[in-house]
Order: sequence, then C-alpha cells, then structure tokens
Amino acid sequence: MTFTTANEQNAAIIDGKSMAEEIMSRIAFEVKRMKESIGKVPGLAVIMVGQRRDSQTYVRNKIKACEEAGIKSMMTELPDHCKEDEVLNALSRFNEDPSVHGILVQLPLPQHLDEAKILDVLSLEKDVDGFHPLNMGNLALRGREPLFIPCTPKGCIELLIRSGVEIMGKRAVVIGRSNIVGLPTSLLLQRHHATVSIIHAFTKNPEQITCEADIVIAAAGVPNLVRGNWLKPGAIVIDVGTNPIEDPSCEHGYRLRGDVFYEEALRVASLITPVPGGVGPMTIAMLLSNTLDSAKRAYNFT
Ligand SMILES: NC(=O)c1ccc[n+]([C@@H]2O[C@H](COP(=O)([O-])OP(=O)(O)OC[C@H]3O[C@@H](n4cnc5c(N)ncnc54)[C@H](OP(=O)(O)O)[C@@H]3O)[C@@H](O)[C@H]2O)c1
Repeated sequence: MTFTTANEQNAAIIDGKSMAEEIMSRIAFEVKRMKESIGKVPGLAVIMVGQRRDSQTYVRNKIKACEEAGIKSMMTELPDHCKEDEVLNALSRFNEDPSVHGILVQLPLPQHLDEAKILDVLSLEKDVDGFHPLNMGNLALRGREPLFIPCTPKGCIELLIRSGVEIMGKRAVVIGRSNIVGLPTSLLLQRHHATVSIIHAFTKNPEQITCEADIVIAAAGVPNLVRGNWLKPGAIVIDVGTNPIEDPSCEHGYRLRGDVFYEEALRVASLITPVPGGVGPMTIAMLLSNTLDSAKRAYNFT
C-alpha cells in the first residue's frame, strides 16, 4: 500500500475543528447575552440508556461543550435492561420542564426498546436532534420548514458552505441512507439544489456513481470503503464515518478511521475532511446551535 507524501497531495483539508470552535464561541457569546438580558440560559437534557463506550464518549463531549458555552445540561442515565416506561417517564419530565429547551435520546437504544415509540413522545419543540417524524417530514417537503435540522447533516452542509463550496447545480452522492445521517443529508443537499444520488448496501458498482460526483458525503460506517479511484479528480469529500480500528499503539487501544481511504483520496480530491477533526466537532456545534435557537424561540429572544 502506498501513502502520499506532502508533494503528492492535491486536496486542501477542511478544518472542522476550528470551524466548530468559531461557531461555539458565537454561541457562548449569545448565551451570555441572553443571560444578561433576561436572566435565562438554554438547557439541554440527555437521556442515555446502557453503557456503550462510544455513546458514553459522544455524550461526554456534548456535555463538556455545553459547559464551555454556558448552556445548562442535565442527564438521565438508565441501565441497559430498563423498561420502556422508565425512558418515557424521563422524557415526559424533560418535555414538561420549562428550563429544558433541547432533549436528546442518545441512539442507538438497546434492542428491547421501541425507538420509534420513544422518539414520537419527544416534544417537537425540543427535538434538537431533528429526528421526530414531523421535523423529518417537514425537511422532506417543499415549502415547509422543520423546527430543527439533524445535527450531523447540518454540520456537513455548514462545512461545505464555510469552505466556499457552491452546492447549487452540483452532482452530489451520499453513501448511506440511515435516518440519522444519510437520509436527512440527501434531503438537505436537495434543499440546496444539488442533484443527489444515494448509495446503500445494495447498490451495484457504487464507484461508477461516485466517480461522477462533484461532492461525495460518505456515511456508511465501513472503514476505507471509498478508494481514491472512486473519486472524480477535484471532488469535494465529506467523511462522516467514524470507525474504531484496533491499534495497540494508541492510548485507548484503537484509532478512528473514516469511510474514505484518506491517503488515496488526498491525491484526487480538491477538498476533504479528516477523521477525526472534520464532521465530529461540527455535529456538536450544530447541536448547541439548535439548543440555543430553541431557547430563543421559547423566550421570544432575538
Ligand atoms: N461524526 C459524527 O458526528 C457522526 C454522527 C453520526 C454517525 N457517524 C458515523 O457515520 C457512519 C454512519 O452512521 P449511521 O448511523 O448512518 O450508520 P447506519 O445506521 O449503520 O447506516 C449505514 C448506512 O450505510 C449503508 N452501507 C453500509 N455498508 C455499505 C456499503 N458497503 N456500501 C454502501 N453503503 C453501505 C447502509 O445501507 P442499507 O441502508 O442498505 O443497510 C446504511 O444506509 C458511522 O461510521 C458512524 O459512526 C458519525
């Protein structure tokens, strides 16, 4: 396997971390302004079921980001084997609490819990993840506006816009069609007037579709799936994939790899996000931004 050297590299790196930091400092400023003007701050509640290590890390990062921005955070942790009613009760309490403006149920939930039923109960006005079917439906419908746009897809578009990419009229390919990432990303790209193709696990010869794309957004959860020869020269690549790969030399025994074969793609693409440091930090910034918007709406604060 060959790896690129600095002078073989064509692509510029999209620095999601520093873009997210910029957004976070604007959010912190707005939270401070809200506190000083009306004595209120936004509140985010998190419900976590079970002890998945990846979920624990994601939740920890979200809570830490809230603290840094001055957003109040609350958390309910339930054991893996908890009853559905316990989750629904926690959800109802947060639905009714006026100091909570955003609720997120960390997914995936354990198999025995009915994810759809739980998300249906979440108050539409506090659905900062944007997964409620009404928010998702409004995202899909022309002429309708969802109250919230899912954070990772919104972060992908933000990365493109902040990198100066014109989305309108471009050919875009989304790899993956999950409710959380792939589907809303394809809807959002269409809202920005891209021509969108979707690749999933049953797509035959996906490389024939990706190699015509100006923009590729990879969200399959398959490390190194997108090879250099899948890409059109000059393509813009957003890598959502966050896949732990065993590596005893790393501190936690694993390192993160994207869905894109980064070293190969660097030589073909014109712009690319790294993993980590691309989509991940932007997702958290979008969550806080949605929570701030929700609080502003609740307090009629402009
Ligand atoms: N950075 C972030 O903030 C962030 C946030 C969320 C997720 N992620 C990462 O994004 C990745 C996707 O997450 P997800 O929740 O959307 O995963 P998911 O629910 O497992 O969905 C994966 C999607 O990829 C498709 N797929 C799987 N293997 C494929 C293949 N070989 N070729 C083409 N398509 C394939 C599946 O197709 P079918 O529908 O046909 O099964 C499915 O639609 C994961 O690595 C996850 O960790 C990152």
